[in-house]
Amino acid sequence: MADGKKALVTGGAGFIGSHMVDRLLELDYKVVVMDDLSTGKIKNLNSGAVFHHTDITKRPMMEIIQREQPDLVFHMAAQTSVTASTKNPIDDTNANVVGTLRVLEASRRVGVEKIIYSCTGGALYGDPDTIPCTDDAPIRPVSPYGMSKWIAEQYMDFYYRQYRLNYTSLRYGNVYGPRQDPHGEAGVVAIFSRSMLEGQQPSIYGDGTQERDFVSVFDVVDANLEAIDRGDGLCMNIATGEATSINRIFDILRNITGYKWEALHAPQRAGEVYKIALDWSRAALELDWAPKISLEEGLQRTVDHFRESMNSSGGVPTAG
Ligand SMILES: NC(=O)c1ccc[n+]([C@@H]2O[C@H](COP(=O)([O-])OP(=O)(O)OC[C@H]3O[C@@H](n4cnc5c(N)ncnc54)[C@H](O)[C@@H]3O)[C@@H](O)[C@H]2O)c1
Repeated sequence: MADGKKALVTGGAGFIGSHMVDRLLELDYKVVVMDDLSTGKIKNLNSGAVFHHTDITKRPMMEIIQREQPDLVFHMAAQTSVTASTKNPIDDTNANVVGTLRVLEASRRVGVEKIIYSCTGGALYGDPDTIPCTDDAPIRPVSPYGMSKWIAEQYMDFYYRQYRLNYTSLRYGNVYGPRQDPHGEAGVVAIFSRSMLEGQQPSIYGDGTQERDFVSVFDVVDANLEAIDRGDGLCMNIATGEATSINRIFDILRNITGYKWEALHAPQRAGEVYKIALDWSRAALELDWAPKISLEEGLQRTVDHFRESMNSSGGVPTAG
């Protein structure tokens, strides 16, 4: 229940953040968004939310939090590209660690009730010893992005222990769904969907046997909502427990879109995990959460979204 509460969504113009904003508004929360629009889009923004075009790594964001006095913070703003993090780990750390620290410090000062942090499971554990990988598996990132998301999570825990600033960290698998940027480097589902609908040949990095845990953005938003009142001071995987190869994603999308050709193959990218799936039993226990959307249904909804946006933009699929 919203009870007149105000929620701040950092990164609320982005893929996951914009879905979060929509759901919070549906549930009658007052919603404030902070986004620098580095990858987020104005068209993703719900007009029911108050928007601050601001960079979380810069001082003015603290004044905005001071003014807005949110009750809850969904911290989703981040540098999200693994490749960019390997090329420029300093910028990655600035956005993901320094930016998070500013969010934490401002939240502590205004007495925020709880921060729900969008962490990564896919980039945190490296190539795990056992699959699905449990929440307690050793943390061994293989990219600066995995490192920065992990350090930020540890700051969450530090603020919890030191200042009693409540938090839950949700470690996502590969999130997919409508509005994911089909022009970015991540989001293989969005990239393949767009290419297939445009009749262009998608590229698979490596041989396509690498496996990921694909979780729908709608299930991820549900987990964030469940974490408002539960899972205090805990970190947990939000995923399906199923490892799906990139080749399989390609095949399912090919069936849905009617695309007829094979994929191109490009060299494997640096900093990528080979095979991962995430055990979500802690989220089941602590949040009473379970993924509800099957891969086939989720992929169908994603393709439907890209088809619609393609029709409404005169043939060019967009992320909106
Ligand atoms: N998509 C996934 O598969 C996935 C998996 C694990 C974790 N996550 C995490 O979920 C969160 C959301 O990711 P997404 O996939 O929606 O990516 P996204 O790029 O669509 O969203 C990130 C948003 O943050 C904004 N942003 C970036 N740097 C900022 C800054 N310095 N100040 C203010 N705003 C800034 C961007 O403009 C964008 O709107 C991120 O924290 C990401 O690390 C995503």
